[in-house]
Amino acid sequence: MKIAILGGTGSLGKGLASRWIKAGHVVIIGSRDVSKAQETAVHLGLDSSAGMLNIDAANSCEIACLTVPFTHQESTLLSIEDGLANKIMIDASVPLMPPKVMRVQLPKIGSAALNAQAILGENTTVVSAFQNISAELLQTDTDIDCDVLVAGDLIDARNTVIKLAADAGLTGWHAGPLCNSVAAEALTSILIAINKKHSLAHSGIKITGH
Ligand SMILES: NC(=O)c1ccc[n+]([C@@H]2O[C@H](COP(=O)([O-])OP(=O)(O)OC[C@H]3O[C@@H](n4cnc5c(N)ncnc54)[C@H](OP(=O)(O)O)[C@@H]3O)[C@@H](O)[C@H]2O)c1
Repeated sequence: MKIAILGGTGSLGKGLASRWIKAGHVVIIGSRDVSKAQETAVHLGLDSSAGMLNIDAANSCEIACLTVPFTHQESTLLSIEDGLANKIMIDASVPLMPPKVMRVQLPKIGSAALNAQAILGENTTVVSAFQNISAELLQTDTDIDCDVLVAGDLIDARNTVIKLAADAGLTGWHAGPLCNSVAAEALTSILIAINKKHSLAHSGIKITGH
């Protein structure tokens, strides 16, 4: 697939990009600064032309993934919303409110994913995923022993993102409608607290069952 990573110059964006490039996808790195995007593209082994402004990346892709800090989610989406019409937009945003990142603090609308859907409107299908995966681990070749909760209102769109999680070496699970993203977003603060109190580097979640 042709995947645009919006804010792809950051930690999570580079991690997902590196995995999807290895899986054979066409990856576009989006940024507010074209030279920064091109530099990241080259760093990831791509041609510099794979680095673009976020708006051009959104216009060029089949599917997009937003990887900017939650405080910049709205301004970023408002600047590119037309390019995302009739596409899936994966939202990995966690609404952390520094400095109290170990405390679950959610936006009034309920979650970052619901906020994205409200901004983009019904022409774009928002699917939430990857909130509980370490960007640092994604940037390595290591096997990541952590699952991905995939929430979205359309089952076909969730299936697409579960397949992309598999392509990144992760097991994705149907986590129900987009409003359920609140659970994955809240879990991140809990995982940060577990990392701190139990001296772990990259705690994650794993679904079990028979
Ligand atoms: N880091 C993790 O392990 C991890 C794991 C799961 C989920 N997440 C979530 O994924 C998202 C990205 O996390 P991250 O750690 O990758 O973030 P990051 O590295 O701090 O930032 C990602 C990118 O956001 C862009 N950005 C920064 N300030 C901006 C602004 N004012 N307006 C628009 N864009 C701006 C920058 O791209 P340009 O300067 O190139 O435009 C930057 O490279 C967050 O919502 C985070 O909660 C992170």
